[in-house]
Amino acid sequence: MAAEEPGSPAAPKTGHARRTFLFGAGAVIAASGAISAALTHPAPVEATGGFGADWQFGPFVPGCTDVDFDDRAMPLVSVPHCVTPLSWQGWHPDDWQHLWVYRQHFLVPPQLRKNRAFLRFDGVLSATTVFLNGRRVASQSGGYLPLTCEVTGMLTDKDNVLAVAVDGRWQQDTPPDLPEYPNPTAIDFYQPAGIYRAVNLYGTPQAYLSDVYAQQIAVLTPSRAVVVHCTVDAAKAVKGPVRLTATLSQAGTEIASAVTDITGLRKGETNTTVTLEGLEAVKLWDVDDPAMCDVVVTLSVGGRKVHTYPVRTGLRDAQFTVDGFRLNGRPLKLFGLNRHQWYPFVGGAMPERVQRRDAEILKNELNVNMVRCSHYPQSPAFLDACDELGILVWEELPGWDHVGDTAWQELAVRDVHDMIVRDRNHPSIIVWGTRVNETLGQYTLYGKTDQLAAELDPMRPCTGAVAGQKGYVQPLYPVKENGGVFSFNDYSRPPSRNAPPPLRPPRHGVPYLVSEAVGTLVGAPYFRRTDSADVQREQSMLHAWVHEHAAADPRYCGLIAWCGFDYPSGWYHSLRGVKYPGVVDFFRIPKLGAGFYRAQRSPSRGAVIEPAFYWDFGPGSPRGGPGRNALIWSNCDQLVVTVAGRRPVTVLPDHARFGHLKHPPFLVNLTVTGQARPDLTIEGRVKGQTVLRRRFSADPTFDTLAVAADDGAITADGQDTTRVTLRSVDRYGAPRPHAHGVLSVAVDGPGILIGDPFLDFGALGGAAAVWIRSMRDTPGTITVTASHPFLDTGTATISAV
Ligand code: GAL
Repeated sequence: MAAEEPGSPAAPKTGHARRTFLFGAGAVIAASGAISAALTHPAPVEATGGFGADWQFGPFVPGCTDVDFDDRAMPLVSVPHCVTPLSWQGWHPDDWQHLWVYRQHFLVPPQLRKNRAFLRFDGVLSATTVFLNGRRVASQSGGYLPLTCEVTGMLTDKDNVLAVAVDGRWQQDTPPDLPEYPNPTAIDFYQPAGIYRAVNLYGTPQAYLSDVYAQQIAVLTPSRAVVVHCTVDAAKAVKGPVRLTATLSQAGTEIASAVTDITGLRKGETNTTVTLEGLEAVKLWDVDDPAMCDVVVTLSVGGRKVHTYPVRTGLRDAQFTVDGFRLNGRPLKLFGLNRHQWYPFVGGAMPERVQRRDAEILKNELNVNMVRCSHYPQSPAFLDACDELGILVWEELPGWDHVGDTAWQELAVRDVHDMIVRDRNHPSIIVWGTRVNETLGQYTLYGKTDQLAAELDPMRPCTGAVAGQKGYVQPLYPVKENGGVFSFNDYSRPPSRNAPPPLRPPRHGVPYLVSEAVGTLVGAPYFRRTDSADVQREQSMLHAWVHEHAAADPRYCGLIAWCGFDYPSGWYHSLRGVKYPGVVDFFRIPKLGAGFYRAQRSPSRGAVIEPAFYWDFGPGSPRGGPGRNALIWSNCDQLVVTVAGRRPVTVLPDHARFGHLKHPPFLVNLTVTGQARPDLTIEGRVKGQTVLRRRFSADPTFDTLAVAADDGAITADGQDTTRVTLRSVDRYGAPRPHAHGVLSVAVDGPGILIGDPFLDFGALGGAAAVWIRSMRDTPGTITVTASHPFLDTGTATISAV
């Protein structure tokens, strides 16, 4: 077992001179890390590799970007990386608000030196300066979009030294940070520094495809087409014939192809299009059947294929109208949650598998069909997973409740450009957030960003969430060619405690979407497992009510509630640096509040019975049991509820109050008198058949620890990571929130613990997780053992292969 680096109290591994990062000829061979799967951004060519494991890392000191800097004592870390170890709460921005440096030594094959070469950083917080072999190559301020730098002619045939200076400080002139307040608690999310997304080096020929955008035209008509916009970048003018060939295939079968010839390719960038027609056979992408397509463009010079650029996309028609949202011509109510990208222990620095997992949780556990990437562009792996799973996406520029000065605004426009160019092939994305969350006015700036979006992607509308009475009534932004959506963060409060929260009516004459609701601004300020059962129950009811309202009126395109996952913040209503509005906690474990979402699926996808109470008669729960209006979420037609020793009670869903929810709540009297602590059984019936039976024990004697890994196997590359959940449960597996004591976690075998080895299980409400990362080139069995003073010891095993 090894402790997490860097800054780990355990002795870190350190670097040594001239380790090499080796690119094998014609193939991807990375001696210091596995090949990143993000190689399609942009298209890989001859020699490509990801810089993953084994970066040398430390505080920035004078000379640390020089070639001959003595880096032998620097600890080794792997990317994705956060500059400081973090816990699951109590983050201190002072820990990451410094200057840092990452170094890599690597060898490249001769081919890469003959051709053009590029470095690409997918995400570095908060500002980056790149040095290669002692020369400053590029810099960027802003941590959510890629930095690509050409390094042609700068690679040597000996040891190459890449040094990346990372400024982890508040960037007051860069979105989303605020110019006036150099204060990391001034916005509602922490942004810990580091190279937290992939880094790749790739080579291209002298003339290559630098971008491909597959624009869909009239998808629902017989004249459906894909106009493939191609950018060719040539180091020098090309005399011979240049041809672009585009093909579109689905499930391995080519459906269409077309060519465009370029005569006299000039030096620099040339934009042209290839139009693919005859696409009747293409199956449309949909939320229930996300049929993807492959569009592949090949560049040939003088009859010889020199470069290929594949993009994955899907054909679908998404329309926001004054009468609601339509996907492929059919009305679809958007049913969504907002997502922040932060995790315990590492901030944003989780690799692809873990990013994808969030999408799986949203789709498969919470049954949403839409996610808003609040409030910045998120990981490419998360968006790829949304494409593959059929989740619709709102992506927005970095920003939160503030617009800065001219220089800040120029960067905001840059961000809109870079976001759309990075992500416009994703079929999942249906709307661009081109306006900073909860800002008013700014007609000049948003005129620019909306115009830019219309030019870069005529397919999708623009939006921006506004809030409050002023936002609701402010004049609309002029609608550009690609239309617009009015999005409102609706935090309307209920008239009294326990009354249903209202929603404002849709604004007249515009497509209307609720972009946030509930959160911590309606109802209790925190929704934690350690809060009273009433508070946790209320969270699920508040979410149910706002979705009920949105479902009841066809003019709402839908509602995206606040929010999916708890997140780190030092702002209003945070507690020791964590905000608790998620229906799923920071560790991605569902709370009682998630019960409403979990039940909103067809029973054919699996029956659900989720009480919004704990059957524990414990400290947070009423002594007399869950009471007269005990709430149960289920997708069954009927529940038969039996308290041991009593007559079974049959309960029906509350269609009277929740007439527009697919699966309304069930309310049942579960008052228990006396000292008896009987078992509870809930049986779910669909069309008269019992489809699920769940039992709940009030007797804590048999409580146990459930330890489970999300994945049975991960890749032994020093980057791949999976989660291990640690939950206190009753003898039947139902959650127990009142576990006391400290949980200790140990890892045996070739795995790195990303997490605290000792967790205060009481403060966590008996549910937590750690993540396990593989070690490079070290296959084997990883065993995670969790022990607790009162509960059994639990283990999970993961194969590193
Ligand atoms: C909203 C904001 C969200 C979050 C929320 C607080 O106004 O858009 O980002 O801060 O308040 O729960």
